[in-house]
Amino acid sequence: MIRECTDADFEAILSIINDGAEAYRGVIPPDRWCEPYMPAGELRNEMAAGVRFAGLEAGGSLVGVMGSQLVQDVILIRHAYVRTARQCRGDGGRLLEHLLETAMRPVMIGTWKAARSAVRFYEKHGFNLIEGDEKDRLLRTYWDIPDRQVETSVVMADQRALDEIVAGWDKSTAVTDDEIDIFGL
Ligand SMILES: CC(C)(COP(=O)(O)OP(=O)(O)OC[C@H]1O[C@@H](n2cnc3c(N)ncnc32)[C@H](O)[C@@H]1OP(=O)(O)O)[C@@H](O)C(=O)NCCC(=O)NCCS
Repeated sequence: MIRECTDADFEAILSIINDGAEAYRGVIPPDRWCEPYMPAGELRNEMAAGVRFAGLEAGGSLVGVMGSQLVQDVILIRHAYVRTARQCRGDGGRLLEHLLETAMRPVMIGTWKAARSAVRFYEKHGFNLIEGDEKDRLLRTYWDIPDRQVETSVVMADQRALDEIVAGWDKSTAVTDDEIDIFGL
């Protein structure tokens, strides 16, 4: 069952994020890894800034969460995590499709360039990988993240974001997941 999370779910959301983020250990640049991956204060700030979570319940408890945030003229998917023990069983896909069904604006996602399984996950759901100067511009326009995170992240954009938000997008210059290696990963 997918439902909207409430303040009462705060500890469960925090726990799912920090458990699911184990997938990043040894994958993202070492200077971007910290423990816990997301401190409670950071999650509180994100929620105060308008990140709303949908949660997927199994066996009576939350096992996956996915945030969304309305920023200017787009919806950002923020903090998408499924408990490690439940990953690759379709839960993340169900949460993403749930959010996309109700998304009335272009949708974009920022994720670590090195998190190739996450990039593949979003590509399977129709998102396109944006790299180079345009992804830097998008990250600086729609996200509030440090320069180092801009450098080490990519943007995934849905079709509507490509049509309305991504400047100069052209299929011939689109980067495929297999080509990410040329960026030094
Ligand atoms: C990304 C995430 C939310 C997807 O949820 P999920 O329930 O695992 O995903 P689904 O089962 O719906 O889809 C699985 C697909 O996602 C990708 N994927 C996700 N996690 C993966 C992993 N650990 N290893 C390999 N592929 C993975 C694959 O493309 C996989 O497809 P496949 O099974 O055909 O190879 C979840 O794996 C997760 O929490 N990952 C760690 C954190 C993360 O990367 N978050 C996204 C950043 S915004």
